Formats: sequence, C-alpha cells, structure tokens
Amino acid sequence: MRLFEHFHLGPYELKNRIIMAPLTRRRAIDANTPNEIMAKYYSQRSSAGLIIAEGTSPSPNGLGYTHIPGLFNKDQMNAWKKTTKAVHENDGRIFLQVMHTGRVGHPNNLPEGGRLIAPSAVPQKGEVSTYDLGKQPYPVPEEMTLADIAATIEEFKTCALLSDEAGFDGIEIHSAHGYIPNQFLNASSNLRTDQYGGSSENRLRFLLEIVEVCCRAIGSERVGVRISPYSYAETDEDHTEIEYRYLKLSEILNSYELAYLHLSHMGDALPEKFDLWKKIREVYHDTLILCGDFTKESAEEKLIAGEADLIAFGRDFIANPDLVERFENNWPLNQRDRTHWYTHGSEGYSDFKKFNQD
Ligand SMILES: Cc1cc2nc3c(=O)[nH]c(=O)nc-3n(C[C@H](O)[C@H](O)[C@H](O)COP(=O)(O)O)c2cc1C
Repeated sequence: MRLFEHFHLGPYELKNRIIMAPLTRRRAIDANTPNEIMAKYYSQRSSAGLIIAEGTSPSPNGLGYTHIPGLFNKDQMNAWKKTTKAVHENDGRIFLQVMHTGRVGHPNNLPEGGRLIAPSAVPQKGEVSTYDLGKQPYPVPEEMTLADIAATIEEFKTCALLSDEAGFDGIEIHSAHGYIPNQFLNASSNLRTDQYGGSSENRLRFLLEIVEVCCRAIGSERVGVRISPYSYAETDEDHTEIEYRYLKLSEILNSYELAYLHLSHMGDALPEKFDLWKKIREVYHDTLILCGDFTKESAEEKLIAGEADLIAFGRDFIANPDLVERFENNWPLNQRDRTHWYTHGSEGYSDFKKFNQD
C-alpha cells in the first residue's frame, strides 16, 4: 500500500506516509513546560512517518488555553529536548506546531505580563476554560498595534530557532482553526484598514511575514504551514473570496519551497471545502498533507488518486500509539474516547498499550 511507502520530505526520508496530526493535550502542567510523560507519549508514537507535536505557543501572549506548552524560553527549550531525543532514539521524526492563540483565550490563562491580542478588538464566540474562573465567555482582545505585529512575527522566528536548538526536525506554522494567523485571514476577525486588513493580499501579509522569518531562521525545507479553508469563522464569508484567498496563498507558498502545506478539516464539511482541496492540489506544487476523518482505506484512496502525498491522523493516534502497525496488520483500533483528551497525567495519555501487549 502507498501508505507504507517511504517519502522524501525536505531533507528527511519518512518511513511511511502516515502523519500524526498535532493534538493539544494540556499536559504541560508546570509553567507551560513539557515534561517526562509528554516525552514518553511522543516516543510511543514514533512509528508515524512524522509526528507533528501539539500546538505550542511562541509567546506568553499565545498561551490562551490552560496547561498548553510554550517554546519561548531556555527552560522550555531544554525540556523539549527530552521529547525530541526520545523520538529520535526510536528512529522517528518530529516537527513542532507553533500555535499562538491570539484572541482565543482568557487573561486568567496568561502568565504575568501576557496580553490577549488579536488583529481587531472582536471577541471569539463561545466560552473558554480558565485556570481559576471556570468557563468564561471569550473576552474582547486588544487590537494589535503595528509594533505588536512586528513583535509577534519576531516571536515566531525566535521559536523556530529554539525549536532547532531543542532538536525538532522542523516546525509547522498553525494558520488554521481560528488561531492568530487565521484571525488575520478571516474577514470576521480582521477589521483592520491598514496593510494587514482589507484585501485578501493584505490579510495574507501577517502569515507570509511569519513564513519568511521562519524560513530564514531554520531553512524553508523544515517549515510547514497548516490551513483550514472554510472552517471556523470563515463559514459565513463570501465563498468566492475564500477560494481566491487560499488559492492565492497556495500559489505564493510555492516560491518558498516549504516542507509541506497541510490542509485540515474539522467539523461539518461544506462540499466547497473538498473542491477547494482539489484546486489547491493543482495550484500548489510541493508536498501536500490532508487531515480530517480519514480511515486507512480512505487515506489510501486519496494517495492513489494523487490528491495528497501524506495523510495525517488525529484522534486515532490518541488511543493507538501503534496506529501504523495496526494499519499494517489489519489489527482493530481502540475506540475514540474524549474522557482524557484534556485531563492531566498519564491516564488516557501515555498508558495505551500496543496491540497484544500485556
Ligand atoms: C484532542 C484534540 C486536540 C487537537 N489539537 C490540535 C492542535 O493543537 N493543533 C491543530 O492544528 N489541530 C488540533 N486538533 C485537530 C487535529 O489535528 C485533527 O485535525 C483533527 O483531529 C481531525 O483529524 P482526525 O479526524 O484524524 O481526528 C486537535 C484535535 C483533537 C481531537
């Protein structure tokens, strides 16, 4: 099967085309710093062709959720080394997803001095869990000044450099699911009238400036980008505009010769979404990862049809550390169970056994 074929990703040869999608698990309970159980959890999943480690903040401002990890200081960098070492010892490859939450958060979750910032002072709909105040409505974020924008782009660069020092094979810039670069892309969260808002070209500017500095910092062949057209705030937007924006982005990203572009789908599927995936495949000439609701069979079909190079799996990697071996041997999968997705400790996290393991 194509799923089990090797694949050249930038400077790396992946063992197979099965990618572990980034999964926030909120286990960094001490000072947003990764720990031993996180290293164990990732090393257990090293048979994936590539692990994309969970959304990790490049800034105190980007720690909008409780207990998510950061990578903006030396302690965090040294702590991440345990994870990268454990994965490499198992012959695995691991990128880090850089996730700045922007308006998706709460001041109660931010460390001292952290600010809830976003392209515009428009709150996210819904509620967020906080450390001390239970669930709270998303507050109105501060509109970023041009200096805030420049500083945030610099934070992505520093995070890329720290990821290199920590031993990651590369990074994925999280521009999907409503986080900060996505907040700039979306019309409903970006009301700016300066060079970062208005036209699609202007909305892309923030992401492209991040891509630029990260590529310069660690090499473009070690930088990936994740996007989720038609997800989250974009569902109400004019579809012609969304299609234009993402095709434009894909076309521009060709010139960077990135490690990959990663298309993610979560929740309800508009038919337009999958049409756009196919159009992006035509416009974007480098490695494409698809993610969202795949089974072994549907993943194989996409690869055979030439609609993707690699397929990422999220929820099935949670309860099946040996997902690759289960696919290879047609062993049954452990069922998806949300109970421990966001709890603490090893239960429902690093305590899943391999198939037939006592
Ligand atoms: C518990 C959980 C945490 C997630 N955390 C992240 C994250 O940190 N970054 C991200 O881009 N997507 C995140 N996602 C989305 C997954 O990467 C993936 O896109 C989604 O689960 C769909 O793939 P699947 O159908 O194979 O599960 C998360 C999903 C789940 C279920």
